[in-house]
Amino acid sequence: MADRDARRTALQRLKQQCHSCRACSLAEQRQQVVVGRGNPWAPLMLIGEAPGAEEDASGLPFVGRSGQLLDQLLVAVGFDLEQDLYIGNAIKCRPPGNRRPTPAELAACRPWLAAQLNVVQPQLVVLVGATALEAVLGIKGGITRVRGQWLDAAAAASGPLALELADRRLMAILHPSYLLRFGRDQPGSPRDLTRRDLTVVRAAVTGFGHRRPTQP
Ligand code: URA
Repeated sequence: MADRDARRTALQRLKQQCHSCRACSLAEQRQQVVVGRGNPWAPLMLIGEAPGAEEDASGLPFVGRSGQLLDQLLVAVGFDLEQDLYIGNAIKCRPPGNRRPTPAELAACRPWLAAQLNVVQPQLVVLVGATALEAVLGIKGGITRVRGQWLDAAAAASGPLALELADRRLMAILHPSYLLRFGRDQPGSPRDLTRRDLTVVRAAVTGFGHRRPTQP
């Protein structure tokens, strides 16, 4: 219980600190800082790119079209969205026009992501899209090559969040906004590949036996 209370308090403090962040110019145009949703006691954390318009308006990550598709895929492979996972983003404020965050913005927001990882302490981390792969592991490009595989410890150890990710298992998947550009569910389609990748993640989460408690 003490751990639960401490984690809840730490996340609330982190949200408050993020809300007063002015580390980059994205603070000037945001409506809200978007920190996370889901169960912060879950063994799995997904990290996306950045809030879009719907996320900026609601204050929650992945609630627009991409998020709805991501949720559908997660549910299709057996995840309970309230219990089994926690979702955040590489950066916490919306870039104007939903452009890709710049390297300077990723760097400015990285301490918040590091703090979030330290509070949530997920065993498994899924990097949703190329920007998350760059922000978390410093790997630019090549997501179609690395997606769907558990990345070895060296990948995390040589990245900018090495301390926060020590001993964690990481996998990159394609971003749902990319999946939306393609047809539906043909075998081998980006959507099909992502469903397969998430099935592997689901099996790994099941291996943790849901031992972690749900948010009260
Ligand atoms: N919404 C988010 O919160 N993150 C993304 O990466 C895309 C849409």
